[in-house]
Amino acid sequence: SLPERVTIYEVGPRDGLQNESTVVPVETKAAFVKRLVAAGLPVVEATSFVHPKWVPQLADAAELLDLLVADLGDTAREMPVLVPNERGLDRALEKGSRHVAIFGSATETFAQRNLNRSLDDQFTMFEPTVARAREAGLDVRAYVSMCFGDPWEGDVPVEQVVAVGKRLFDLGASQLSLGDTIGVGTPGHVVALLDALNTAGLGDDVLAMHFHDTYGQALSNAAAALRHGVTTFDASAGGLGGCPYAESATGNLATEDLVWMLHGLGIETGVDLDGLVATSVWMAGELGRPSPSRVVQALAGS
Ligand code: HMG
Ligand code: MG
Repeated sequence: SLPERVTIYEVGPRDGLQNESTVVPVETKAAFVKRLVAAGLPVVEATSFVHPKWVPQLADAAELLDLLVADLGDTAREMPVLVPNERGLDRALEKGSRHVAIFGSATETFAQRNLNRSLDDQFTMFEPTVARAREAGLDVRAYVSMCFGDPWEGDVPVEQVVAVGKRLFDLGASQLSLGDTIGVGTPGHVVALLDALNTAGLGDDVLAMHFHDTYGQALSNAAAALRHGVTTFDASAGGLGGCPYAESATGNLATEDLVWMLHGLGIETGVDLDGLVATSVWMAGELGRPSPSRVVQALAGS
C-alpha cells in the first residue's frame, strides 16, 4: 500500500546550481530558496560548504546563509548544507546551521574525483566531522553517490553500496540518501538494493532516494521505491543540475515531475505545484535556458 504523505527533499539550490556554468548572483539564489519555501517544500538544501575552488558556483555559501537567516531566521538554520570535512562543518557552524549532509562515494574512482580521497580515506574525513556535528546537536544526513553505476567503473555491485552506505550511516546519520548519480538505474535494481539495505538493518524509514533522469528512468524508479516503502525523495526544482565531477550526470529528477506523480496517486506533499512551476519558469529565465521538466513545460504553457 502507498503512504498518505511523502517528504520531498529539495536539492535545486545546491545540486542544481552547483552544476550551472553560470554563477548565479547570491541575491537570486536567496530569492530562489525563499520561493521554494513559499511553494511549500518542507526541506530545502541551501548550499555546500565545500572548497570554493572545487565548486566555485557555491563559493558564496556563507553570504547566502546570511541573507536567508536575515529573512527566514531559524527556518534558514534548519536548511541542510553539505559539508565534506571539519573545515566545512566549522563554516556551517559559524552560520548557525542545524542540519548538515556528508556525501560519500560507493566507488573508488568517484571518491578520488569528488573528494580527493580513496574510498577508505573518505571515512577518515567524515568520522570526526559527523562526531563533532552530533556533539553540537546537529542532524546529519549521509549521501552515497554512484549507487547504480559509475561512469568509470561501470556496474556497481549492490553489496558494495550496502557496505559503504551502512558505514556512512553508522557514523551517526539519521538518514541515508542513495544517489543514482548517472541515472542508469532501473526499477528491479532499485528493489534489489532496497531489499539488501533492509537485510543489513537499514529500514526504508531511514532511506531517501536521489534519482537522476538521464535515461528517463527517474519516475519509474521513484514509483518502485515508493511501493517498497520509501517516503523521502530528493528532487530538484525544474530539473536543475547534476554533478560537475560525474561525466554525463545530467538531469536531477525534476520536483514538478515527482509532485505530479505523487499528487496523482493521492499522496500529500504540501507542495503548491503552480507556485513551484512559476518559480522554475522564473529561474529558467535567470539561467537563460528552458527547464527540462515535462511538467514545467506542460503547465507553463497552459
Ligand atoms: P582537498 O584539496 O583534498 O582538501 O579537497 P585538503 O583537506 O587537502 O585542504 C586543502 C585546503 O583546502 C586547505 O587550505 C583547507 O583549509 C581548504 P590551506 O590550508 O591549504 O590554505 N579546505 C576548505 N576550504 C573551504 N571549505 C572547505 C575546505 N576543506 C578544505 N570545506 C575536499 C578535499 C573534500 C575539500 C574537496 O575535494 C571538495 O571540496 N570536494 C567537494 C566536491 C563537491 O562538492 N562535489 C559535489 C557534491 S557531491 C554530489 O553532488 C552528489 C550528490 O548530489 C548525490 C548525487 O547527485 O548522486 C550528493
Ligand atoms: Mg543529484
